Amino acid sequence: MKLGVNIDHIAVLKAARKVGDPDVLQAVFVAAQNGADQITIHLREDRRHIDDYDAKRIVANSPIAVNMECAFGVIDEVLKLRPFRATLVPEKREEVTTEGGLDLEKHFARIKRTVERLKEADIAVSLFVEPSKAAADLALRSGADMIELHTGRFSNLWAALYGVLARTPYAPNDLTALNGGDLKREIDREIKKIKKTAAFARELGLQVAAGHGLNYHNVAAIAAIEAIEELNIGQSIVARAIWTGFGVAAREMAQLIAACRPR
Ligand code: PXP
Repeated sequence: MKLGVNIDHIAVLKAARKVGDPDVLQAVFVAAQNGADQITIHLREDRRHIDDYDAKRIVANSPIAVNMECAFGVIDEVLKLRPFRATLVPEKREEVTTEGGLDLEKHFARIKRTVERLKEADIAVSLFVEPSKAAADLALRSGADMIELHTGRFSNLWAALYGVLARTPYAPNDLTALNGGDLKREIDREIKKIKKTAAFARELGLQVAAGHGLNYHNVAAIAAIEAIEELNIGQSIVARAIWTGFGVAAREMAQLIAACRPR
């Protein structure tokens, strides 16, 4: 199981003051020395955290593979930067973070063309999708190498049941109506969906990653799914880094994931 450490939230801190501190490139080296197999960054169209200067230095200097999340609007920049992999994600200006997977059916032609352009430039391609067999099928037909399964709903359900999410002002509306029993059942359903899709996609020959909202409490359920070979995790590692330091936080996540793998 590979761990992709997403360092966008270090860039969020940098963007809060706009004086170049903390340096995201330093985070790349610390993560690489502490169990990360890959660095994940999201070059957003509005450049609200990772900017072109960060992206260029990270791709040029990272000792480990760089996975760049991107929407259609930045593909020309990604083609120039040439990271190891591009993960296509949907993007909305007003969202706090990526809210869902790609609508492969609606945007199939554009996604297929984009996959072709990226692959011609020798950039591996992953598609961020909601867990479903239909999405895996379409991803294969698009020519992508990999799918990344969106674990956002699983993570939100988990946070509503075991954390404080349901009591906060930003609790998703569909979660506040659910009681403890409902949440448990929904979590089980979501895990089954992720597991089935991962196994199906792997049978098709796709590589399978997962990510979004994973943390030290909920990651075991996803890391235990054999067909998933990579997790991309950011916010929880950077949040823990405030208390432990970034290196310790990355290492603890890498060790936790390794301990949860099926033997
Ligand atoms: N994977 C994808 C495709 C994402 O968009 C994100 C968030 O940038 C992550 C993984 C990491 O999510 P988190 O920061 O919640 O761990």
